[in-house]
Amino acid sequence: MSRRGRFITIEGGEGTGKSTLVAGLRGSEAFEQALFTREPGGSPGAEEIRALFVSGETDRWDALTELLLINAARRDHVVRTIEPALAAGRDVICDRYLDSTRAYQGVRGVDREVIDAMHETAVGLSPERTVLLDASPETGLARAKARAGPDRFERMEGGFHGALRAVFLDIAKAEPGRVAVLDATRSPEETLAATLEALAC
Ligand code: TMP
Repeated sequence: MSRRGRFITIEGGEGTGKSTLVAGLRGSEAFEQALFTREPGGSPGAEEIRALFVSGETDRWDALTELLLINAARRDHVVRTIEPALAAGRDVICDRYLDSTRAYQGVRGVDREVIDAMHETAVGLSPERTVLLDASPETGLARAKARAGPDRFERMEGGFHGALRAVFLDIAKAEPGRVAVLDATRSPEETLAATLEALAC
């Protein structure tokens, strides 16, 4: 039987350079055979939920509805995309996962216990290693806004993004063995090299 793949997640606030880092990892030798995916999304059903989730007015969904939508999407993503790849021995690199739910839906008002209990019931799978790209909300939002059409969350007010950063950093402090925090203000090349090192490639 082949070795099970590693499940790795990339996390961070808006405009912290996750997409650039993922593109760099895609081109790296270490992850040549890996499956690259993202959340919300990553399976046909979850991509449909993503469209509902990220568009429209900032108050389109209340926080608990967001949690239900994200868990429906995540379960479908894990069952149809992530688990089969891991079982076949492929590493999986996922752009956002449970820590984003803890940060975004947590800051939106859902208790951490509810978020974690829902995850255990609906999904179960936890990442083995996580890279957290950390930057101030000012740096991140300036980058995010430079892109076309900010999404529902990017349009939320400034304090929201500072609170997200604090939750991400708290998670990293509580789980230092899983989460590596990287300074997202460095160049893409430096961030990629630091990530490969953190993932021990
Ligand atoms: P993206 O901009 O990184 O593609 O993510 C889409 C948005 O979805 C982003 O603003 C963060 C938000 N989000 C949550 O609110 N909860 C979650 O669990 C995830 C994965 C994303």
